[in-house]
Amino acid sequence: MSVARRPTVVDVARAANVSVGTVSNVVSGVRNVRPETRERVERAIAELGFRPNTIARALIRRRTQTVGMVIPDVTNPFFSDLIWEVERALTDAHYAVLFGNSANDPARERRYLEAFLSRRVDALVVVVTAGADLDFVRGLAAEVPTLFVDRLVPPDVESVVGDNAAGMALVVDHLVGLGHRRLALVNGDRGLETARAREAGVQAALARHGLELEARSSGEFTLASGDEQAAALFERRERPTGVIAANDLLAMGVLAAASCSGLAIPGDMSVSGYDDIAYAAFTSPPLTTVRQPARAMGEEAVRLLLARLEGDQSPPSRVVVDPELRVRASTGPAPVAR
Ligand code: RIB
Repeated sequence: MSVARRPTVVDVARAANVSVGTVSNVVSGVRNVRPETRERVERAIAELGFRPNTIARALIRRRTQTVGMVIPDVTNPFFSDLIWEVERALTDAHYAVLFGNSANDPARERRYLEAFLSRRVDALVVVVTAGADLDFVRGLAAEVPTLFVDRLVPPDVESVVGDNAAGMALVVDHLVGLGHRRLALVNGDRGLETARAREAGVQAALARHGLELEARSSGEFTLASGDEQAAALFERRERPTGVIAANDLLAMGVLAAASCSGLAIPGDMSVSGYDDIAYAAFTSPPLTTVRQPARAMGEEAVRLLLARLEGDQSPPSRVVVDPELRVRASTGPAPVAR
């Protein structure tokens, strides 16, 4: 079936034998359309090659069907997974997603957010930078539904976050159980609540065992920083028997530094990470880590956001996702306990 001129919504409605309103509902992803009707409309859209005029629709409905998302580091696979799921779930709900990589720069983050708001996005998904202005962050949520993911923000905004203290407690218990008493923490940017919470989690868990950190350092949540911090750590006269890295990229940097120094992992030293990015199972040796389910967090964030876009007025919720320990070959008995 085809029409010579550019097909209109009326052509689609006629072809699918439904009203123009129903076509409109299908196009904008309104949920209360019967599956058979939706299928008929979608078939007619495909056959006619109908392309909705989103700008005209936006003006009428005062909705642009777009969501802005800003993340701090597009090179970190944890955030790639988050983007993957947010984009998938929003596209399924007929939204287009505009992305910004703030590169951990609060000024750049703010420019993206302002730009998204001036393009009249319907909602925002934000993973904040270390130096984010919290009043500005609160202000966003007052303008459009805003979902904060992964990093802790003020309690009065909606968020999906991991339990960093519980995650680190899993790692500490695992290492102490293997006989480790001399542990070091290799951390990311301590300006971030994530880094501070992970450090506090390590310290609290060690205190439960009557232990303290042997050494701690911080830098960025990157491969290079893990490598640098580990190189400094390995120069100490008494090396720790275990290194707890605050994310997988840092841990992979530690593994690289250990390999350069001729250290056997886990024979000479155990190493753990945090996130369970896809690469963690493929390092040499495979990395023991704490799983933060980035995709599940993204899915939950979109679920909350869509509820807001459909008019949910309940007070902002904070969803805390439980961490899980993934034991692989990078951790083993402490050398002295062998
Ligand atoms: O941005 C650094 C880290 O924060 C990520 O790797 C992930 O762990 C997140 O929680």
